Amino acid sequence: MADREPAQLPRHVAIVMDGNGRWALGRGKPRSFGHQAGSDALKRTIEAVMRRGIPILTVFAFSCENWRRPRAEVRKLLDLFLKALNKDVRELDEHGVRINFIGDRKVFNQTLRDGMAQAEQRTCGNTALQLNVAVNYSGRSDIVAAAQRIAAAAATGNLAAEDLTEQRLNQELTLAHLPPPDLFIRTGGEKRLSNFLLWQIAYSELYFCDVLWPDFGAEALEAALIDYASRERRFGGLSQIRVRSA
Ligand code: FPP
Repeated sequence: MADREPAQLPRHVAIVMDGNGRWALGRGKPRSFGHQAGSDALKRTIEAVMRRGIPILTVFAFSCENWRRPRAEVRKLLDLFLKALNKDVRELDEHGVRINFIGDRKVFNQTLRDGMAQAEQRTCGNTALQLNVAVNYSGRSDIVAAAQRIAAAAATGNLAAEDLTEQRLNQELTLAHLPPPDLFIRTGGEKRLSNFLLWQIAYSELYFCDVLWPDFGAEALEAALIDYASRERRFGGLSQIRVRSA
């Protein structure tokens, strides 16, 4: 474990948890074995994030594109979600985690939808960590849904074209009530955004690592935090050195 203290911590970390399948196949096991191990890695990571005092974590658990996977794998993933809802929510609640699901949940069966709603309700007063779990989520769909609501407001005369600002559009998007991610992590070696939080990560620091998600935990998180602390965030402005020499 690193003994350096990162100088600055992100308030909001977003993670694409990639590499479950390869982790399992590398062990001669079915991909679903990797998802189970991925679920354990998520628990470890939540603990590590809380220990570091980071208040917001958003994870990509199931994308709209994941329905293209073999039915057995999709079923295993949905079973894991249900198991987590039945088993892990109580523990998360006891530790002060507020759970929120983002994405289009209409496609899920009633049991899963009820489980999600109950988890949100049960934990809604918690403040130690805001955990957003993206299920059947797509960044583009999020933007399209926001645009549809804006268009409906315009059609009924409740919004003039010149009043459509970034802030106004942002209000219609998921996670509008939270600061955007400071740090975006993708495990598993691929350097892609995969349609996750496209609008919200406009100025996030991007961190890609080769660690396969089931191997992720406190140590890998610390490496990401140290890297983050070394970045200079300019949000389109100038670095402090350039400002002084301008
Ligand atoms: C990507 O790995 C991972 C997923 C599609 C699912 C993520 C799900 C979990 C971590 C399970 C736990 C979640 C909850 C909320 C209980 P991949 O299968 O694409 O891996 P590969 O790139 O090696 O094929």
